[in-house]
Amino acid sequence: MNAPQQGEHGHVPVMADRMFALLEPALTRLAADGSGAVLVDGTLGAGGHTEYFLDRLAGLHVVGIDRDTSAIEIASSRLARFGDRVEFHHHRYDEIADVVATTGRPSVDGVLLDLGVSSMQLDRADRGFAYSIDAPLDMRMNPDDELTAADVLNTYDHGALARVLSEYGEERFAGKIASAVLRERSKEPFTTSGRLVELLYATIPAATRRSGGHPAKRTFQALRIEVNHELDSLRGVIPASLDVLAVGGRLAVMSYQSLEDRIVKRDFAAAVANTTPAGLPVDLPGTAPAFTLITRGAEQANAAEREANPRSAPVRIRAIERIAADGKGRQ
Ligand SMILES: C[S@@+](CC[C@H](N)C(=O)[O-])C[C@H]1O[C@@H](n2cnc3c(N)ncnc32)[C@H](O)[C@@H]1O
Repeated sequence: MNAPQQGEHGHVPVMADRMFALLEPALTRLAADGSGAVLVDGTLGAGGHTEYFLDRLAGLHVVGIDRDTSAIEIASSRLARFGDRVEFHHHRYDEIADVVATTGRPSVDGVLLDLGVSSMQLDRADRGFAYSIDAPLDMRMNPDDELTAADVLNTYDHGALARVLSEYGEERFAGKIASAVLRERSKEPFTTSGRLVELLYATIPAATRRSGGHPAKRTFQALRIEVNHELDSLRGVIPASLDVLAVGGRLAVMSYQSLEDRIVKRDFAAAVANTTPAGLPVDLPGTAPAFTLITRGAEQANAAEREANPRSAPVRIRAIERIAADGKGRQ
C-alpha cells in the first residue's frame, strides 16, 4: 500500500480508511489491485476520498460526480496525476444512471456518497454557506441554479418559510423566525448573512442557546437544503445507485445530519426486506431480497477519529451490498 497522499489542496477526507475497508471487497473481486473495477464517487468534492482509493488500488477506475463546478475544477487539478483512471462529470448524483450510461458500462462495483457541504464550500466566503462570515446569501452548490438563499428569505410566504425551517432545520422557533423575517424584509430585502444572523440572535431565546448550539446553525442548514433540493436528490440517488450496482457491488453513504441518515436507513431497510407476506411458513419464489446490509446500524467516528478530524463528529455511515441480480426488495 502506498503512503497516503494529501494533495495540494490539503483537504483530509472524513474516515477514508473506514470507507475504503467497506468498499474494498467489492472493488477487488476481479483483481487485488482493483483492475477492471469501477467506483462512482457521487460527491467528488475536493477529490479526497477518490485520491485515497486511487492511491491504494492501482487498477481502479473512478467516475467522479459533483454538482459544483468549482469542486470539479479543484478535484481535476488534485487528481491530474492519475490521468484517465478518473473521469469528471458535472451532474447531480441522482443522475448516476445517466452518467454511468455515458461510460458504456452496464453496472459499477462501488458507489461512495459523502453527503452535504464540503469544507471548500464553507471556506469560500462568497458562496454564503458559513454563518460565521458576513457574505451574500447564496448557498447554491451549483452556481448555474436559479434559487438562492436570499430568494427563499425574500419571497416565501410565512407558511412556506416556517415549514422549510422546521422540516429541514428541525428548528423549534420556525414560526417565530419566519414572522421576524417577513417583518424585516418589508423594510428592506435580505442580501447578506450578517443581517440574518443578527435577526436570529434577537429572535431565538438566549436560554435555549446553551443546548441548541449556535442560533444560526439550524436556519442555515434549512436554507441550504431548500436551495439545493438536497433531500429530493438524496431520495433519488439511493434507489438509482442500487440499480447500477453489479452483484457483489457495494454502496456506502456518509450522512451528517439525522434527516439524511433517516432517508438512507429507510431505503436500505426496504432494499434488504423479504417481501413474502407475513405469516407464510416459507419464502415465496422471487421475494428474497437482492441486497444485504454491511454495517449494523449506523457507524460513527470513534474518539481518536473525532480528535484527528473534527468534521467526522456527526458522521453516520451505512453500507449495503448487492447479493443477487434481481429481487423484489427495493420499493
Ligand atoms: C462533503 S463534500 C465531499 C468531499 C469529498 N468526499 C472529498 O473527500 O473531497 C460533498 C460534495 O458533494 C457535492 N454534492 C452535494 N449534493 C450533491 C448532489 N445532489 N449531486 C452532486 N454533488 C453533490 C457538493 O457540491 C460537495 O462538493
